[in-house]
Amino acid sequence: MSLLKVMDLKVSYGGIEALKGISFEVEKGSIVTLIGANGAGKSTTLRAISGLVPVKSGTITYDGNVINGQSPQKIVAEGICMVPEGRRVFPNLTVLENLKIGAYLRKDDLTADIDHVYRLFPRLKERHWQLAGTLSGGEQQMLAVGRALMMRPKILMMDEPSLGLAPLVIRDIFRIIQTLHEEGITILLVEQNANAALKIADFAFVLETGFLGMQGTGAQLLNDPGIKAAYLGTAKA
Ligand SMILES: Nc1ncnc2c1ncn2[C@@H]1O[C@H](COP(=O)(O)OP(=O)(O)OP(=O)(O)O)[C@@H](O)[C@H]1O
Ligand SMILES: [Mg+2]
Repeated sequence: MSLLKVMDLKVSYGGIEALKGISFEVEKGSIVTLIGANGAGKSTTLRAISGLVPVKSGTITYDGNVINGQSPQKIVAEGICMVPEGRRVFPNLTVLENLKIGAYLRKDDLTADIDHVYRLFPRLKERHWQLAGTLSGGEQQMLAVGRALMMRPKILMMDEPSLGLAPLVIRDIFRIIQTLHEEGITILLVEQNANAALKIADFAFVLETGFLGMQGTGAQLLNDPGIKAAYLGTAKA
C-alpha cells in the first residue's frame, strides 16, 4: 500500500519551475530515496510535501487524503516529519530543549520519547545539557533526527543527512536510518551520497532538474551504468 502518493507535482519559485510535474509513490514501511544533482529539486520536493512551499498544481496524498494546501503544523501532526537540509538545530538551546521543541505540538508526557532518542543516540544523552551550537556536525545531525522523532513520525523525510560528515559518522547515521525503518517508520531519504542511499533503499528515483528520470530498486540503480557514471563517480560501492 502506498502511504504517500505524489501526482504530477509542480512547484514554482517566481517564474522558475523547480518541479515540472513529478509523480512517485512511497510504500508503507519502505525506504525510498531520491537522488539527483544540486538544484534538481530534491529539497523542494520534501518542502512541498511538508507544506513549506506552495504547490502550483498536482496532488500529494497521504494515507488516502490530499494534504497539499494544509498547514505545515497539520502535516507534521498527521505524522509527516522532516529533518531539514543543514540540520537547523537551535544553537542557543540545549540538546534537551531542542528535543522538547520537536514535540511542540504535543501535550502529553515526553519522557518515553526522550528516552527513545537517548537510546538511539547515547551521545545526546551524555550531552543533554550542552548548547546545540557547540555540538559537532555529526552530533547536530543526530539531534536533528532526534528532534523529528519527538513527533512520532509515520514518515520521516531526511534531506541530505550525511552532508559534510566523516565516513564513520555517515555509517552511524545510515545505521540509525535502518533501525528506524525496522521500528516501522517509512523513510523518504534525499541524498547526494547515492552509493550509501541506494544500498539501503527499497526503491529509488532520480530527479533531473524538475523531472523524474530513472527509477528502480536500490540494487537496480546501483548497477546501472548511466547512474554509475553520473551519480556514483568512481567511488567503490
Ligand atoms: N526559495 C527559493 N526561491 C527561489 N528559487 C529557489 C528557492 N528554493 C529553491 N530554488 C530553486 O529551485 C531549484 C531546486 O532547488 P532545490 O533546493 O530543491 O534543489 P536540491 O535538489 O535540493 O539541490 P541541493 O542538492 O543543492 O540541495 C534550484 O534551481 C533553486 O535555485
Ligand atoms: Mg537540497
